[in-house]
Amino acid sequence: MAVVLRPVQGTDMDAMFGMLSDPDSRQMAPFVAIDFTTRVEFDARIAQLQADPSIKLYSMMASGHFVGAIMTFNGPAGREVFYWIRRIAWGRGLATEAMARMLNLDHTRPIYAHVLSTNPRALAVLENCGFAEVSRRDATETPAPDDEDILLVRN
Ligand SMILES: CC(C)(COP(=O)(O)OP(=O)(O)OC[C@H]1O[C@@H](n2cnc3c(N)ncnc32)[C@H](O)[C@@H]1OP(=O)(O)O)[C@@H](O)C(=O)NCCC(=O)NCCS
Repeated sequence: MAVVLRPVQGTDMDAMFGMLSDPDSRQMAPFVAIDFTTRVEFDARIAQLQADPSIKLYSMMASGHFVGAIMTFNGPAGREVFYWIRRIAWGRGLATEAMARMLNLDHTRPIYAHVLSTNPRALAVLENCGFAEVSRRDATETPAPDDEDILLVRN
C-alpha cells in the first residue's frame, strides 16, 4: 500500500489525538516529545511543533486516510526521527514505507532513533531502513524492569 507523507492538517487532528493517546502505544515509545493531558494541550503542542522550523512533522496518508505520523527534530543525540502508526493499521508495512520516504525528505545524516528493547516492531522498521545499533542503556522510566533504551543510527 502506498503511503504519502504530507504536512499535518487540521482534519488529521482527531485521529492523531486518538493515536497518541493510546496508552499501550505510549508505553511502547515513551520518548515522544508530544506531552499533553487534554485535547487543548495536544492542539497547542502540535501547533508549537508546526511553528518550529527545525521540526519536520508529517501525516502518513494511505488511500486518503490518516494512518500515522512521522517527525524529525534536533534531539540530544543529533537529528532524530520518531514515528507512530494508528493501531488499526499495524503490521501492513506502513511504518517501514513511511520511514523510507522520510529519509528522502530529511537528508540530515547521521540521523538517530530510540527504540525500547521490548518493541521489536519498531526495531524491525529501523533495521529494514538501514539503521544500526549504537548503544543501549537501562530504560528506567518504563514499567518493564529489564527494558533497555536502544539508540540506533543511520549514516
Ligand atoms: C512500531 C510501529 C511504528 C510499527 O508499525 P507497523 O506499521 O506495524 O510496522 P511495519 O508493518 O512497517 O513493520 C513491522 C515489522 O515488525 C515485524 N514484527 C511484527 N511483529 C513482530 C514481533 N512480535 N517481533 C518481531 N518483529 C515483529 C514485522 O515482521 C515487520 O518487519 P518486516 O517488514 O521485516 O517483516 C507501530 O507499532 C507503532 O506505531 N507503535 C507505537 C509507537 C512506536 O512504538 N513508535 C516507534 C518509536 S521508537
